Order: sequence, then C-alpha cells, then structure tokens
Amino acid sequence: MNDIFLKACRKEPTEHIPVWFMRQAGRSLPGYRKLRETYNVLTLAQTPELAAQVSLEPVERLGVDAAILFADIMLLPIALGVGVKIVDNIGPVIAHPIRTRADIETLLPFASKNIAYLQETITILRSTLQVPLIGFSGAPFTLASYLVEGEPSRTWTKTKRFMFEQPKAWGQLMEILSDATIEYLSVQIDAGAQAIQLFDSWAGCLAPSAYREQVLPYTQKIFTSLKHKNVPRIHFGTNTAGLLADFARVDCEVIGVDWRISLAAAQTLVGGKALQGNLDPAVLLGGQQTIEKKVDELLGELPSHTGYIFNLGHGILPETDDQKVKKLVEYIHAK
Ligand code: CP3
Repeated sequence: MNDIFLKACRKEPTEHIPVWFMRQAGRSLPGYRKLRETYNVLTLAQTPELAAQVSLEPVERLGVDAAILFADIMLLPIALGVGVKIVDNIGPVIAHPIRTRADIETLLPFASKNIAYLQETITILRSTLQVPLIGFSGAPFTLASYLVEGEPSRTWTKTKRFMFEQPKAWGQLMEILSDATIEYLSVQIDAGAQAIQLFDSWAGCLAPSAYREQVLPYTQKIFTSLKHKNVPRIHFGTNTAGLLADFARVDCEVIGVDWRISLAAAQTLVGGKALQGNLDPAVLLGGQQTIEKKVDELLGELPSHTGYIFNLGHGILPETDDQKVKKLVEYIHAK
C-alpha cells in the first residue's frame, strides 16, 4: 500500500512528494474518452463497474499517489430530487432553478439509498487500489451557485442577488445543502473513502465579508461534523487568495489553492495546515522543459516539502497530453 498521500495530509515525512491531479479521471485519458462515446457522464458515474474503471485509469496510466472517486458534485443535488443534465461544452444545467423559498421546499431529504451506486463503486475500488481513495463533494456555496443560476456562470449574479436580498432563504438553502453534504461524505467515508475533498470551486467570487457571514459557517459545520471519521479532510477553492485566511478557518488537515497565489504566501495564511496545489493547468500544454522549469519554481517556494501535496490549481485541461502528465509524475517523484 502506497500511503504517502495520507502521510503528507497529516504532515508526516514521506520519501517523496505525493502527486494527484484534479480531474485526473476524465477527458485527458483515452480510456475515458472511449467510454464517453457510449455513455454520458452521469451514467458513467452511476454505474459502479464503469465508474471504478474510470477512477483506476489514471492510477495505472500515470502512476499518481491517490485515486479520486469518479463522481460529480451534481450527484448530491440529484439525490435530493433536482433535475440535472450535464450538457456537452456547457456543464450542469438545472431543470427548475431554485430562486424562492417554495423552490427550496421541493428538495427531498437526503437518503443514502439514492447513492447506493457510490457505495458500490467505492467497494470495488478499495478491493483493487494500492493507493488511497479520495471521496468528494461540492461545498454548499458551489452547489447553490449551480442550483440558483440554473447553468454555469462567470458572474454568479443570480446567486449573489439571492444571497444578499433573501438572506433567510439563503440560510435555509445553505443549511439543507450542508446537512446533506455531511451525510453524503459520511456515506463515502463509511464505504471506504480514505480522505475527502470539499470543492468550493466558486467561493472565491465573493467579498471576504460575504464569504465570512453567508458561507463559512456552513462549511465549518461540515468539516467539524466529519472530524470523528478520522480521515484527512481537504478544503479546496479557486480564486481564494483574497479570503484564504478565512477559507482556512475550518477544521481540516489540508488547504488546496490555485495558481493565483504563491505557495509561500498561501502557507503564511493557512495556519499550519498542509498545502495542496497549485500549478497552472495551462503549463501542461507546453513543452517538457517549460513544465520542469515551472515545477522547479513552484517547489522552490516552500522551505520544506513535508505537508505538501503536488496538484494543479484546478482541473487538468481535457486537451492535455497524458504522456506529459506521466513524465511530470516521474519528475516530481524523483525530487
Ligand atoms: O478525476 C476527477 O476529478 C473526476 C471526478 C470529478 C468529476 N467532476 C467528473 C466530471 C470531479 C472531482 C468533479 C467535480 C466537479 N464537477 C466540480 C468541482 C471541481 C471543479 O472543477 O471546480 C464541479 C464544479 C463540477 C460540475 C461539473 N461537472 C462541470 C462544471 C462539468 C463540465 C466541465 C467540463 O470540464 O466539461 C461537469 C462534467 C464532468 N464531471 C466531467 C467530468 C470528467 C467532464 C465530462 C465530459 O464531458 O466527459
């Protein structure tokens, strides 16, 4: 069993730097692209044998130190009865966006039977994997942003308007989503996930004061409620440079950051937690020399690599050549 990823989460020394990539199980890999000719994303994620196969591909092909469950953040809203489609070249689209209290009341209570397929996928993966398995969920703000907007957005104006104009309803929505997230992640951990990552991908669009008042308390509750499960907990977001000290005020082991902040600056803000990140995914579109130079710069930002997990600052780009990624894993392992 290769457990260097788990050790690094706990800030224990490791023989080399652990590496995994967000979106490692996806379109940059040939096996995944082949499966996508037949199945849509949600069907893949909801079919345990196929989902397990997708999670395993990057472990076998790239030599990464952790596997991520093949799922999607929208599976939780689906389990709560929300109509979701993942549309090619767009992303998640919601049948009936949530914009009023009455809309919120249509959400069903969480029931683990609605995600029985994830439990099965995790069982298959744990019987095969020689590296730790990461489970994950979207954080309440990021989930709410899809539910309120109804489709991906670059400005999140409907979400912000809802949040500012209907703070009570917003609080109710965030409470429902955070309680469901606690259960959703607990099911994954109980089934065998050995670490969890909470993706608050879009929380960085908020002013620090709005984040502190209308988002952070719910995320804090999630992490605090999962402490007793005793698995490393990662809190990840993009564009969090301006609110990182607040973002790190949750009870977790690891903070994941994107490339808009240096690892050195991030380290001073995260209060002794382990760090994960943060190479710009676009670097991997360049030549090997550029990649290695940028990685050396990145690693040079930290005085010690204990408590550090190499990753990109966000998901791997679909057009990335997986052979370059494989070389990058070898390069980092040789450091
Ligand atoms: O290796 C992995 O990370 C795979 C598991 C995974 C998926 N989605 C599968 C997927 C994970 C961890 C996610 C998380 C996810 N999903 C997030 C948080 C991470 C982030 O990127 O910020 C978000 C915001 C979503 C919602 C979502 N699902 C979007 C925006 C999209 C379209 C994005 C795109 O790149 O086209 C999806 C679809 C999706 N989920 C894909 C994958 C591999 C791409 C599907 C495809 O067309 O094959």
